[in-house]
Amino acid sequence: MVKDMQTIVNFCKSRGFMYQGSEIYGGIANVWDFGPLGCRLKNNIKDAWRKRYIQERENSYEIDAAILMHPRVWEASGHVTSFFDPKMDCKKCKTRFRADNFITDISKGEINGDGLSYEEMEEYIETNNIKCPVCGAHDFTKIRKFSQMFETYRGTTDEDKSIIYLRPENAQGEYVNFLNVQRTTRSKLPFSIGQIGKAFRNEITPGNFNFRTIEFEQMEFQTFCKKGNDSEIYNYFKEYAEQFFKDLGLSVENLRFHNHEKLAHYAKEACDIEYQFPFGWGEINGTHNRTNYDLSRHQEYSGKKMEYFDQATGERFIPYIVESTCGADRLTLMTICEALKKYEDKESERTVLELDPEIAPYKMSVLPLIKKKHSEKAKEIYKELRNYLMCYYDDSNSIGKRYRKSDAYGTPLAITVDDETLEKDVVTVRDRDTMEQEKISVNEINEYAPYALKKRRR
Ligand code: GAP
Repeated sequence: MVKDMQTIVNFCKSRGFMYQGSEIYGGIANVWDFGPLGCRLKNNIKDAWRKRYIQERENSYEIDAAILMHPRVWEASGHVTSFFDPKMDCKKCKTRFRADNFITDISKGEINGDGLSYEEMEEYIETNNIKCPVCGAHDFTKIRKFSQMFETYRGTTDEDKSIIYLRPENAQGEYVNFLNVQRTTRSKLPFSIGQIGKAFRNEITPGNFNFRTIEFEQMEFQTFCKKGNDSEIYNYFKEYAEQFFKDLGLSVENLRFHNHEKLAHYAKEACDIEYQFPFGWGEINGTHNRTNYDLSRHQEYSGKKMEYFDQATGERFIPYIVESTCGADRLTLMTICEALKKYEDKESERTVLELDPEIAPYKMSVLPLIKKKHSEKAKEIYKELRNYLMCYYDDSNSIGKRYRKSDAYGTPLAITVDDETLEKDVVTVRDRDTMEQEKISVNEINEYAPYALKKRRR
């Protein structure tokens, strides 16, 4: 595993996984664009989530709610009054810090800044004589609240403009549609609504590549249940999320649970799953027992009943919600951090992205051994293969360089077309991780591909 963040950033840029947002204008802080490879990887991660959380589960439905919601939604959710970060500036060099993360980082994770009050954070910085990591001064402003909500305006004339927010989380789209989905699917509790979509937060960030960005995609999943079943469902989804990450190819030693010390006022239980990034442990997933707070607030603010009618008992009540949430961009970075390996060879260094085949951007590469002699047959094979799996054709440079590229793209199998293919319809299949080669017949690739990929699952 590559332990150095700069190597990962360079790899992502040079291989087309991620680029700095608006780079030709000097970039925009904490905004990243996904390139051809990164886009495929992220889409595959979203598909894996969709399969695990929607397709393989009963009573689980996906929606796609609008990013722009009625401003009252964010009053009901509490975001307008309390979605703030603790902001602190260095008076000398003017660098801005998010104080809780700053303390967690500076104490190397020994102190969890998130669990401290503003006064406790100021006291920690004072008594430990903490210095600005940029200019070395010990001269900070007091810690103040900084709203994370992005505001924009709507209206047909300048006079008639009213504030509207870019959603800071997907969850509220699921909550306001709770009754719509329950009625149209005729679901009984417990049932779940999931959603993949963009969220926006005006974050004060310490960098760390695309770990914390101001625009990102969340994969959120809300299970509506009866009070009394909530804790069992909460524990179930903690394990469910961990299993999802293991199935994506993450090693157990790089994952840990972190129970929240300071619970939000509405939460009964909350736990993060953290991943060990090269820059330290960072949250990738949250499981939250949100009680009936969200639906009660929407009932209060909208004036619409948010109750469930239990036909078996004749009871009416506002359901509890257990949330399982994770970020698609953070997961993309995490899978690259986990999979990127560098091996020393006799002549050169070999960079391999050992991704699980399920999420690999391409499943196969098709390579003619000699361009002039074998490209026609190789293209024919590629054109057939691309009908049912994501693959690419490559005849640039030498075969050795093409293998290197295929490995760095994370492609599990490389198919080489040579004289034997022309004579006997036999190709060579090379395994990315073991570099072992095997001869198979062209018409076997069809069956071989899905089988080989499945066999290689960890
Ligand atoms: N609905 C609950 C909620 O939004 P959260 O812990 O604030 O909870 C959920 O966010 C997940 O979204 C996180 O675990 C993380 O993976 C991702 N996420 C949150 N803020 C992010 C940011 N600024 N950049 C990238 N991903 C972020």
